[in-house]
Amino acid sequence: MLQEFTLTIPVTIRPAQADDIPKLEWFGMITPFRKILEKDFAAAQAGKLVYLVAEANHFPVGQVEADLVRFQDTSVGYIMALRVLPPFQNLGIGARLMTAVEQAIFHQGILTAQLNVEKSNHLAQQLYEKLGYQMIGEETTPWSYTTPEGEVKTVNESEWIMQKSLKKGGA
Ligand SMILES: CC(C)(COP(=O)(O)OP(=O)(O)OC[C@H]1O[C@@H](n2cnc3c(N)ncnc32)[C@H](O)[C@@H]1OP(=O)(O)O)[C@@H](O)C(=O)NCCC(=O)NCCS
Repeated sequence: MLQEFTLTIPVTIRPAQADDIPKLEWFGMITPFRKILEKDFAAAQAGKLVYLVAEANHFPVGQVEADLVRFQDTSVGYIMALRVLPPFQNLGIGARLMTAVEQAIFHQGILTAQLNVEKSNHLAQQLYEKLGYQMIGEETTPWSYTTPEGEVKTVNESEWIMQKSLKKGGA
């Protein structure tokens, strides 16, 4: 060991800005989903979606979104695209992003949060259960995206549907 020291890094959760979007490709890791990032940011600008990032050291190291208009029933906000840059995982950022997006949904007068989690994603499922989400069903709805190279990819994962009633101030 040549040196060891501890860093304390402030993290801010705030709405995504235009210059976050290319950075949220995370050096190629998320690049196949570029068009989705851009489309979702445009939807956020139009007020249809909440798009939050966790910023550390001037870089967006985590993100989460809530679609406010996915369901005919506008009393349900649909949380999606929660992710934390791997070196920043297991530090509590994911849980805090969830609390922040729940508060943002509640602030819109929407009292229920819903999300889908892949059945194989046990860590995320555990996190959602800890945060008070309950399984209400399951579905396998194939969806597609187009990579920046124009290739269409289809995802066909079996998922749990989870739901939580929101209260003022979270929890
Ligand atoms: C799922 C994901 C978003 C979780 O983000 P995260 O920042 O690692 O989550 P948190 O740190 O808030 O919580 C994860 C664990 O860390 C623990 N933790 C919370 N605060 C902590 C802290 N200050 N220090 C250490 N650990 C902490 C939590 O209790 C939790 O522990 P658990 O394994 O017992 O549940 C992240 O793993 C990820 O990006 N995964 C890939 C994308 C993905 O699967 N997204 C979900 C799609 S549905």
